[in-house]
Amino acid sequence: MTDFISINRTHWDVVTPGHVDSDFYDVESFKAGRDTIDSVEAELVGDVGGRSLLHLQCHFGLDTMSWTRRGASATGVDFSEVAIAAASSLATDLNLNTRFKVGNVLDLNLGEEFDLVFTSHGVLGWLPELRAWGETVARHLKPGGRLVLVDSHPVLWVFDDERIDGEMRIRYDYFSREALTFEETGSYANPDGPVTRTIERLHPMEDVLEALISAGLTITGFREYDHVGWQALPHMERDDDGWWRLPAGTPRIPLMFSVTATL
Ligand SMILES: C[S@@+](CC[C@H](N)C(=O)[O-])C[C@H]1O[C@@H](n2cnc3c(N)ncnc32)[C@H](O)[C@@H]1O
Repeated sequence: MTDFISINRTHWDVVTPGHVDSDFYDVESFKAGRDTIDSVEAELVGDVGGRSLLHLQCHFGLDTMSWTRRGASATGVDFSEVAIAAASSLATDLNLNTRFKVGNVLDLNLGEEFDLVFTSHGVLGWLPELRAWGETVARHLKPGGRLVLVDSHPVLWVFDDERIDGEMRIRYDYFSREALTFEETGSYANPDGPVTRTIERLHPMEDVLEALISAGLTITGFREYDHVGWQALPHMERDDDGWWRLPAGTPRIPLMFSVTATL
């Protein structure tokens, strides 16, 4: 567990500066007012005016600050001190009152409850287990408060990056729950970045839902999507709507999911 957290934290500390400078995150256009909340997130979360919102695994805070611009009283949490320092400095530059805090979502306790807990895109795979995460979500929601979770679908993660004879090949066991160690150059936002190690886990969908149910939440919505927010497999194509999909004509699989739940 400790290894899981310390290896991944080092990865995020190392890659974050390259992300802040990347075209992927395009901080200049964000400074000029670009909203980073996508169509799925916006529909599920709805109007945040006057609402308190906790953003878990906020990275360097663009979504958190977008929720502030949309009227929320927003707090972002991430375990990378480098990411939180970058987020706080951007918020200061932009004169936004978004709060940022360093914390591990497996044992976070801010001593506060929020109307909304939001977490999205590339979050659960970094966590060694989800029970403690579900309890963190529950601990930070007011009675009647809502969770909105949007993440890549675990079915997507069974596939190899390489295709064999043009066919997608299943490489990872959906049900094994084993820790997967990678050593790779760069990242989704900065392919030429430094070499780092990560430890990740494919959490089957049943574990995601079970973690929330056992923490006392009631699932109010579950959806699966044929698109995802970045090029998760090399042969994916970006459509005019900005989402990445398998090439037209390929049989579809779920690439992303969302869960809404209430306490
Ligand atoms: C892929 S990024 C999330 C990206 C974010 N949705 C965005 O668009 O910028 C994953 C984030 O999770 C954070 N993270 C990973 N494990 C964590 C943990 N146990 N507690 C808190 N943050 C964690 C990393 O530091 C990283 O900033």
